[in-house]
Amino acid sequence: MEYLVMLPGPTNVPDRVMNAMLTHIINHRSDDFRRLYKTIVEKTQRVFQTQNDIVLLTTSGTGAVEASVINMIRKNDKAIIPVNGEFGTRLADLIDSWGGHAIRVTAPFGQNPQYSEIEDAFDRNKDIKAVYAVYNETSTGTTLRYMDKLSQLCSDRGAFFIADAVSILGGDELPVDKWNIDICVTASQKALAAPPGVSPMSISSRAKKHMQANPPPTQYLNLKRYFKYYEENFETPFTPALPLFNAFSEALDMVLEEGLDKRIARHKACADAFYAGLDAMGLSPFARQDARSNVVIAINYIPGMDDKKFRGLLSQQFRILIAGGFGDLKGKVFRIGSMGEVSKYHVMRTLSSIASVMNVLGLKVSPDAGSIALKRLESAI
Ligand SMILES: Cc1ncc(COP(=O)(O)O)c(C=O)c1O
Repeated sequence: MEYLVMLPGPTNVPDRVMNAMLTHIINHRSDDFRRLYKTIVEKTQRVFQTQNDIVLLTTSGTGAVEASVINMIRKNDKAIIPVNGEFGTRLADLIDSWGGHAIRVTAPFGQNPQYSEIEDAFDRNKDIKAVYAVYNETSTGTTLRYMDKLSQLCSDRGAFFIADAVSILGGDELPVDKWNIDICVTASQKALAAPPGVSPMSISSRAKKHMQANPPPTQYLNLKRYFKYYEENFETPFTPALPLFNAFSEALDMVLEEGLDKRIARHKACADAFYAGLDAMGLSPFARQDARSNVVIAINYIPGMDDKKFRGLLSQQFRILIAGGFGDLKGKVFRIGSMGEVSKYHVMRTLSSIASVMNVLGLKVSPDAGSIALKRLESAI
C-alpha cells in the first residue's frame, strides 16, 4: 500500500505528473526536445517570477547548490552566509572547500541571525563578493524572513545575492526579479511536487557574465556550457533525464494552473493548521515564531515520544512518512514536509495519525486538536 509522503522532500507526486514519465524516449538533439526544453524554461521563469536565464540540471538539489558555488567563488573570495542549521553549514563548508572564505553569521538553531548582524559582517569585511542565503532551513523548519532587505543590502554593497530555495520555491513568496536574486536554486522534489532529479536555477545577466568570464575547471557543472547550448540550440550540453523533464514540465503546469498566489496561500493555511493542531496536542514548534516555516514543520519531542518508535508506528501502522532531526537534533525533533500537493486531507490524516500514535505510546491527547486544525483549513482553503 502506498505511503502518504509527508517528508520535507521528496514529497507526494500527483499521478498526472508520474504518468507524464510514461512516454517514449526522444532524441535530445532534436526539435522534439528543443520544443520541450524551451517550454520548460519559459514555465520555470514564470514560477521563479523572473526574466533571468534558467538552467535545468539533471541532479538533486545539492548539484545545483554546488554549481552556484563553483561557478562564482574563486580563491580567497569572501561570501557571507547566515548559518542556523545543516544546509547553511554545508553551504559555508562548500565555499571554504572550494578556496573561498565563508563568513558565517550564526544564530542558534530555530532562530534566524539578526539582519543587523549581516550588515555588521559587511562593515567588518571589505570586498564581500556574495551573500549566500538558505531561504528555508529544512533541518530546523525556519525561513529567513528578510530576503527583501538582504537583497537591497547586497545591491547597496555591490555583492551578488544567491539563494538556496531548494525546499521552498513553490510554497512561499519568492519573486526572484523583485528581490534581485542573482542565482536562485531549487529542486523538483519538494514544493514543486515532482519526482527528484531535476534542479532548476535562475541566473541574472551580471552573474552570467561573471560565470562566462571565469568558468570553473569542471565539465558537468560548468554553467557556461549550459548557456552556450541553450543560446545556440535550445539544448542541454549533456544527456538530460528525459522522463524527469516530462514530469517536471507537467508539475510546472499544475503550479501555473493553480496560480502562485493560491498555492502560497494553501501552503500557509496548511502550515497554520499543523501548528495549531499540534499545539493542541501539547507539541511545540522547534522554530521561534518569527522564523517559522510554512513548508517544513519541525516539532519538539516530549517525554514519552521516542523518535524511532513514534516514526516507526506512523509509517508501519498508518502509512505516513515524516522525518526525524539532523545531527544534534536527532531524537529531539520530528519534521513534517507540508509542501507540494499538501491539502486538508494530508493535514487531517497526518494529525489524526499522530494523535493515535501518541495514544498508543500512552500519551493523552486533547480531542480538540482535529477540530482546531480543521477550523484553520476551512476558513482558508
Ligand atoms: C535547503 C536545502 N538545500 C539543499 C538540499 C539538498 O538537496 P538534495 O537532497 O536534493 O541534494 C536540501 C535537501 O533537503 C535542502 O533542504
